[in-house]
Amino acid sequence: METITKLIADDLAELESTIQKLITTRITFIKEIVNHIIRSGGKRVRPILVILAARLCGYKDQEHIPYAAIIEFIHTATLLHDDVVDNAKIRRGSSTANTVWGNEPSVLVGDFLFSKSFELMAFSENEEILKVMSRASTCLAEGEILELLKTCDPETDEAEYLEIIGNKTASLFSAACEVGGILGEVSQKKRLALRDFGYNLGMAFQLTDDILDYVSDDAVLGKRVGTDLKEGKVTLPLIHALKHGTDKEKGYVAAVLNKAKMTPRDFERVRKIIRKHGGVEYTSKVTKQFVDNAKDFLKVFKPSVYKESLMTLADYMLARET
Ligand code: FPP
Ligand code: MG
Repeated sequence: METITKLIADDLAELESTIQKLITTRITFIKEIVNHIIRSGGKRVRPILVILAARLCGYKDQEHIPYAAIIEFIHTATLLHDDVVDNAKIRRGSSTANTVWGNEPSVLVGDFLFSKSFELMAFSENEEILKVMSRASTCLAEGEILELLKTCDPETDEAEYLEIIGNKTASLFSAACEVGGILGEVSQKKRLALRDFGYNLGMAFQLTDDILDYVSDDAVLGKRVGTDLKEGKVTLPLIHALKHGTDKEKGYVAAVLNKAKMTPRDFERVRKIIRKHGGVEYTSKVTKQFVDNAKDFLKVFKPSVYKESLMTLADYMLARET
């Protein structure tokens, strides 16, 4: 990651100032909440993808920076909403906006960021980008709703899970990469390759997220470990364990999923069941397949430092700890 941030250091510095510049509103309360989450040290993975993809495609201008900022805004809007939906207390090592200000301001400031993003894109008049971004936003909402419908359902299978994460996470990664291709005015073939690269990368990102929710610890992750199970989210490590578990184990997990309040002991016991059936190892294997697929889609591009960086970023999806 360090080599990547060095390579695009100037673009990243401009990204941060553009983020500040674009959050224009006369309501200081909005800025306070936006800054709370946006300055709390996110990884900026999606903007980095826009920047690298644009540069990979030979883009020489600076218009990619506002688009990178807008993608971070959309991502931030979804986090504000998601933390309300998930009743999350900690993100990026700080209290979530819903904990500090309550659910209503979080949802409404999320709405503001989302609307502001589309206002900015409408005025920049790139119809292709607007289409890609609006399609991705619909997918985000659909993914989150699909996930909601599957809450506490121990019958959730791998295909349903992959559909959820494809929509809620991979769609925005995919759009970020495609936007880079659109700005670089590459062929349709290369544009589609970037779209697929981003999609596979996003799948790997979310799979790792779901592994970390079982194996990391709060301080390293900057989020509460065990939130998925507590909120009744059935993710791949658990799906795999449920598929191979005994009836007794399945019954126990179903009871924990439907419990009003999960205890640390419940979490430990479910973790033990996941460990017994290799749920994390299996999920890592699936993650690796998505990483390999992602890298394969870059074949159509000539070697360059940007291609190299995107390959490294793909590997980082497997190795990341936060
Ligand atoms: C995080 O998942 C959530 C998402 C990637 C998508 C959230 C999408 C919405 C709330 C949809 C609609 C909102 C707008 C503005 C279009 P997670 O809970 O697994 O990750 P986490 O552990 O980081 O919370
Ligand atoms: Mg969440």
